[in-house]
Amino acid sequence: MSELRIEAKSLCKNYGSLVAVDNLSFDVGAGEVLGFLGPNGAGKSTTMKMLTGFLAPTSGTAEINGHDIVNDSLAARRCIGYLPEGAPSYGEMTVRRFLEFIARSRGFEGKEAVRAAGFAIERLNLKRVPEQTVETLSKGFKRRVGLAQAIIHDPSVLILDEPTDGLDPNQKHEVRHLIREMSSEKIIVISTHLLEEVHALCNRAMIISDGRMLVDDTPAGLIARSRYHDAVTLVIEQPERVASVLSELPEARKVELREGELTVFPAEGCKLFQVISDAVREHDWSVSELRLEAGRLDEVFRQVTQGGDAQ
Ligand SMILES: Nc1ncnc2c1ncn2[C@@H]1O[C@H](COP(=O)(O)OP(=O)(O)O)[C@@H](O)[C@H]1O
Ligand SMILES: [Mg+2]
Repeated sequence: MSELRIEAKSLCKNYGSLVAVDNLSFDVGAGEVLGFLGPNGAGKSTTMKMLTGFLAPTSGTAEINGHDIVNDSLAARRCIGYLPEGAPSYGEMTVRRFLEFIARSRGFEGKEAVRAAGFAIERLNLKRVPEQTVETLSKGFKRRVGLAQAIIHDPSVLILDEPTDGLDPNQKHEVRHLIREMSSEKIIVISTHLLEEVHALCNRAMIISDGRMLVDDTPAGLIARSRYHDAVTLVIEQPERVASVLSELPEARKVELREGELTVFPAEGCKLFQVISDAVREHDWSVSELRLEAGRLDEVFRQVTQGGDAQ
């Protein structure tokens, strides 16, 4: 029963006639940082609300560390820390009082609640602002307070709904750093529509669209699905002339000229980079950029969620 695990079993949620989550099943284990990726309205938040026991599934269920979220909700919830979308909190309370309040609602009493709040303040670097009211904090600090309330009972499973949404780049970086620090001894599930976030934070990615899971892969596996994977892009003088030369290479399947960049796609099983570097040298072309493409996540995402050959 103490194993670290989320097991979603055919989770479904209907809102009236709308199917928001459609038969989702998956397993998550210790050390996994799972990213739910999907367009707005995909069903990410609804799935998280069901996993955290805030919303009853229409059918199906999930187990958190062996506790059923429907039949054993309290035990399941004890294992979970949850940052809801937008992270609402009690603005007129000070950070410390708010966190002590959350600690008490989590079952800590007296000095224990004070200690738990102190621990969370420490962990989320809130030591500069514990006596400030939550509503006077910057967005970045408010989000940290949201994370602090999520970890106050030291849960083994963290469910974070768009944890960096609305933050500026520095704040995003900081929140990601905090999440990464916490990830070793927990299961973390985050939702995001930012591909870079999955890349920066997750070791597993699920693309969800219209309530259904379309892809379950590693970020590296995801990017390797891109048609740009292993392509070579050049920024070069006289690209049309270069394109016609490169398209004759047996290793090249296709050459595309787009917004001044020339991209060469490899034929099945071929490596292009060395061949193209050699050609550049041989013809003495004037190149300002030559790069091997890892793949483009945004293109994979569009392709998977919209179908067809998105560019
Ligand atoms: N309380 C609700 N009542 C009716 N429809 C809802 C409710 N909450 C969400 N929805 C709908 O369910 C779908 C999934 O929403 P949501 O889970 O919030 O998606 P995401 O978090 O991926 O943006 C959307 O079409 C949304 O409009
Ligand atoms: Mg959402």
